[in-house]
Amino acid sequence: NCTVIRASFLHFINDPAKIENIEESYQYIADGLLVIEDGKVKLLTDFTEEKAESYPVIEDKRGQLIMPGFIDTHIHYPQSEIIASYGEQLLEWLETYTFPTEKQFSDKDYADEIAQFFINELLKNGTTSALVFGTVHPESVDAVFEEAQKIDMRLIAGKVMMDRNAPDYLLDTAQSSYDQSKALIEKWHNKGRLQYAITPRFAPTSTPEQLALAGKLKAEYPDTYVQTHLSENKDEIAWVKSLFPEREGYLDVYQHYGLTGDKSIFAHSIHLTDKEWASMSETKSVIAFCPTSNLFLGSGLFNLEKADNNDIRVGLATDVGGGTSFSALQTLSEAYKILQLQGQNLSVFKGLYMATLGSAESLSIDHKVGNFAVGKEADFISLNWAATDLQQLRMKNAKNLQDKLFALMMLGDERNIQSTYVAGKLVYSAA
Ligand code: GUN
Ligand code: FE
Repeated sequence: NCTVIRASFLHFINDPAKIENIEESYQYIADGLLVIEDGKVKLLTDFTEEKAESYPVIEDKRGQLIMPGFIDTHIHYPQSEIIASYGEQLLEWLETYTFPTEKQFSDKDYADEIAQFFINELLKNGTTSALVFGTVHPESVDAVFEEAQKIDMRLIAGKVMMDRNAPDYLLDTAQSSYDQSKALIEKWHNKGRLQYAITPRFAPTSTPEQLALAGKLKAEYPDTYVQTHLSENKDEIAWVKSLFPEREGYLDVYQHYGLTGDKSIFAHSIHLTDKEWASMSETKSVIAFCPTSNLFLGSGLFNLEKADNNDIRVGLATDVGGGTSFSALQTLSEAYKILQLQGQNLSVFKGLYMATLGSAESLSIDHKVGNFAVGKEADFISLNWAATDLQQLRMKNAKNLQDKLFALMMLGDERNIQSTYVAGKLVYSAA
């Protein structure tokens, strides 16, 4: 039960922002061998004739680059079909496009169909793990877990809790959301590679009673995740202040109800106050950075340097359908531009680290996935350096590894993903 692949390899050991010498953040092997046994990494080493004798090469992928699979730390699977919907910012966009679409997921057959599309789209884009929003309907979460389970994919998901400020057809109640979430935890959490995330949509769509019950659930199941949205849009922040005047600010709402912590992932976190940056850090809470969404919905520019300086873990996220691409490469390309506008640079090493090991760390799954350390689950992808004429022309001009990788990050997308492996098994192949 052993697979041996020969190719070029790149993976990360450290956060490039946290060490003196960036060269020590990654390992690149131009001609290497990866040995997978029982779905786990057994060995990654330079290719030599001698080693090839002990481990006969089963797949020769010379000319391709193998990396750990990408990890998407915030995405809404039911919004796949409204990606790129015109003209609105967050609150209007929710009313106009999002809520009517999410209504359809009360129908399990429909949820199954979109869940299947969604998982396939992740794999095509080289994404092997994700933290996923369902809708308010428990069936929507069954659908996406069932689909992930078919290929033993590492997936974290949860049912949206939402008991006010949305159309009636999408509302639960504080009690029903607690009961349904609890039943889903019992059914799915730690079942194989699946884990559960308690999912209050965002403060404006939950009553204090619902947030209190979400916090109660987290206290009862401390090993589960919490996922929600935070400080994405200025109108949203003002709205939270008017709904929770007794709280100090947006983050304090979550903090008050016991929803911050080292397994709490807050999407966006763009317009934080200094006090909120400090609380995020103190509570070891996590940020999901959603570049394409923040640009598309006109939400603002995320300050990655500030997060790094506050020692806050940041994962990379597409936030489809507010985001405009399933591709981690496209997402990094937009992240680079967001940081440029703030006088910050995103090195390709920091970018690719964020998409793999960094996101794994942000989801506390770095002991399982994120690089090719011995014993980790073998979730990985093979990439073509150049998938278009333009990429080919640019690669010919590339000066060194860093420059080649940078061109791949800026110009690449799902056309560069040649194959995707989950737990050592091929689950997608472009050819
Ligand atoms: N805030 C509350 N719900 C949503 C959502 O579905 N997408 C985004 N981007 N922000 C939200
Ligand atoms: Fe979102």
